[in-house]
Order: sequence, then C-alpha cells, then structure tokens
Amino acid sequence: AGTPGLFKAKLTAESATVRFAEGLDTPILGYNGTSPGPLIEATEGDRVEITFANRIPEETSTIHWHGMPVPADQDGNPMDPVATGTERTYSFELPEGSAGSYWYHPHPHGKTAEQVYRGLAGAFVVKPKADPIPAAYGDTVLVFTDLRLAADGTMPDNTMVDLMNGRVGDHVLVNGQKNPRLAAPFGTKRRFRLYNATNARFLRLSFEAPMTVIGTDGGLLEAPIAADEILLSPAERLELIVSFDKPGPATLYTLDYDRGWMGAGRPPDAGLTLLTVNVSETPAESVPPLPDKLRPIAQLSAPAVSRRFVFTETMAMNANGMEMGFLINGAAFDMNRVDIVAKAGEVELWEVINKADMDHPFHVHGTQFQVVENERDGQVSKPAYLAWKDTVNVARGETVRLLLRQDRPGPRMYHCHILEHEQLGMMGIVDVQ
Ligand code: C2O
Ligand code: CU
Ligand code: CU
Repeated sequence: AGTPGLFKAKLTAESATVRFAEGLDTPILGYNGTSPGPLIEATEGDRVEITFANRIPEETSTIHWHGMPVPADQDGNPMDPVATGTERTYSFELPEGSAGSYWYHPHPHGKTAEQVYRGLAGAFVVKPKADPIPAAYGDTVLVFTDLRLAADGTMPDNTMVDLMNGRVGDHVLVNGQKNPRLAAPFGTKRRFRLYNATNARFLRLSFEAPMTVIGTDGGLLEAPIAADEILLSPAERLELIVSFDKPGPATLYTLDYDRGWMGAGRPPDAGLTLLTVNVSETPAESVPPLPDKLRPIAQLSAPAVSRRFVFTETMAMNANGMEMGFLINGAAFDMNRVDIVAKAGEVELWEVINKADMDHPFHVHGTQFQVVENERDGQVSKPAYLAWKDTVNVARGETVRLLLRQDRPGPRMYHCHILEHEQLGMMGIVDVQ
C-alpha cells in the first residue's frame, strides 16, 4: 500500500517517431513521446495534479480520465479543448473505494478517434490502500493497441470502411510491442490488467494456462471466477490471475468474434498471438493462495428514473456520396445540446437497446455502473457476477440494462466506444445537477 499524498505528473502530447518494422520510421503521437503513454499509478486517497501540455501540431486535444470519478470540469470533455502550444492542469482526488484499472486518452470534438489510433492512450491504475491480492503475483499492465502501417511506414488516415466499422488495424500490439515475451517460474501465479485501448477491435482472448477473472473496469470483483475465455470490447478492462501450471511457452491468443461488419472484408480475428510467457522448469518457491473473497460490492437498487437509449445506424446516398449516421435515440451528438438531465446521487436504470447491425460498446463518463440484465430474442439473462464497469458491449439485437448513479454535478458524455462511431455522432450528454 502506498502512502496517500499528492501525486503530480506531467503529460505532454507530442509527435514522435517509432520503429515498428525494420528500416521504417513511423510518425506517431505519444504522451511524453511514447505509445502507450506512461503508466500512471496512484493510490486511493491521493490528490492528483497532472499538467497537460499540448504539443500536437495545429490541433486541440484534452485528457479524459476514462472511468474515473473526477469532477466534470476536470474530465477533458469535448467542450474544454486545450489548444496546441498551451497547457492546463487537471486536478482531482481519488476517493476511498476508487481502486481500479482506468485509462487516459484525448477527447477533443471530432478528433478523438484519430488522436487515439495515432498513439495517445495510457493506463492509469489506482491502487487500494490494502490490496487483497498477494504482492507475489506482481501486477502487470497489458495495453492492447491496434496498428496499421502503410508500405512507407506511416499510419494511413481512416477510410470510409474504417468510419463505418471502426478502424481495425493489422497488428495488435501489447504495450507498443508485437508479441512481447515474459518469463515466469513453473507453478507461479501472475496478476495481469488487460486494457483494450484499440479504436474498434473486439478481443476474444484465451491463455494457454488457467485464467481467473478477479476484476473489471472499476476494480475487484467480490470473488474470483474461473474463465476459459474472455471478451474485451473496445475500452473494456479486466484483471486476471493466470496460473502457470506447466513448463514451456504459454501464449495469450485471440479467438474469432463476429461483431458485425458492414461490407466485405471483415479482418480475421482468430489466431493472433499477443503475448508469450516462457514458463521455466524450475518451480516457483512458495506461491501464496488467491483469497476466495476479494471485497464486498454494494448492489445499486431502487432506481428513481429509468431511461432508454436506442442505437441505430443510417446510411443514405446523396449528392455528396454516402452519408452515414450513428445515432442514439435518433440523434447525432451535438456539443451544445443537453440530452438528458439527471440528479446527483440518484440511482437510475439505463436500458441500452442495439437495433443496429454491429455491436456497440456503451460507455458512460464520470462513474461506474452495474449491469443487471441482458436480453436477446426475448431471453433475459443475468451477468455471471456483480461488477463495477464503465463500458459494456451491447451486441446487435441485444438490450443491456444497467444501474448507475452520478455523484458529481456537470455534463458527462455517454457514447459508443468504437471511436469512429463516437466521432460520427453516437454520443450524448447527461447533465448532472
Ligand atoms: Cu474512453 Cu468518452 O471515453
Ligand atoms: Cu470515458
Ligand atoms: Cu459503435
């Protein structure tokens, strides 16, 4: 456990050059010149002060603290741009109980998708004051990004197909590298935090070693739960314990997942090796057991209001070519329009209905929610565990019901986290009063 105090850092969004392939220089945007940006680790109770310098050529940017319980005016919203050549300091407190796997990325109006795929994203881990997970497991952050390289080493701009489906790249990188290698002694357990920081790639994953889910976006579950595979939609995070129970290489790899695709050419998902852990013959010394209770989660209940959000896609040919609309309740995002007004401290039931032809991961700013029900073809099911989340996949034809409470006043975004869809309008504003 860290000592609560003042956590200060500086993040500069700037141009940099990275060598992903032999002999090719790739221009990127990076926080402090790296992609992903520096791993930020603070502790519950800390006061955070992060100075952001925007050095991106001729662009506005912001930093949004994805999933974190920060005041609305410190959250890097589209209406609070930071012009190139200027700085601002974001400051907020990390309340008790806020430990979790968050991240940070820009959120400037209309430019989020491009700034993120060019490299601006990083992990922000908030540690609890007392951690029930044995320190001997380590704590390894794995940030997945999705790279597309042209023959000259540059990252091509988004095409029409990218805007429709979301940009899916050619190489999934882990902490900026292709198939990095780690080592572990035989018999050990390791803790991993998995981040889907891609714009639009769904990651259905499995490990060649037993996996146990211990946490989601907003921190630990009540109890560990074994899993053969996991699905991480864009922006989701999971915490896993992996037991390296036999010597030899154990890989983290992808399985196929059909998330709906417009037009031909859905890029293949299956069979990518993301990470290889070389498990040695030498056994680990003593491996502390994983506790069977992690922390209590208070179930949200008795919603005062219920609301409905319907996702649709529209496609129309006109004189300018194909016009696409990605809509919530029939409307595209307008920065100057408040879509709904909510009361701080009141529990609400949100019903998110996907009437479109693709899956859309739904995300809300400023708080964590609890999924209570999924419905598909008239079949209602409950999630396998109670969890705090800020992003949930809503598969095509599915309805997801969730409970949430916003505790801090101000405007908050909710949107599809396929960032090209967010850009094309699948976003709204809830004003919390
Ligand atoms: Cu990852 Cu609007 O955010
Ligand atoms: Cu967010
Ligand atoms: Cu979407």
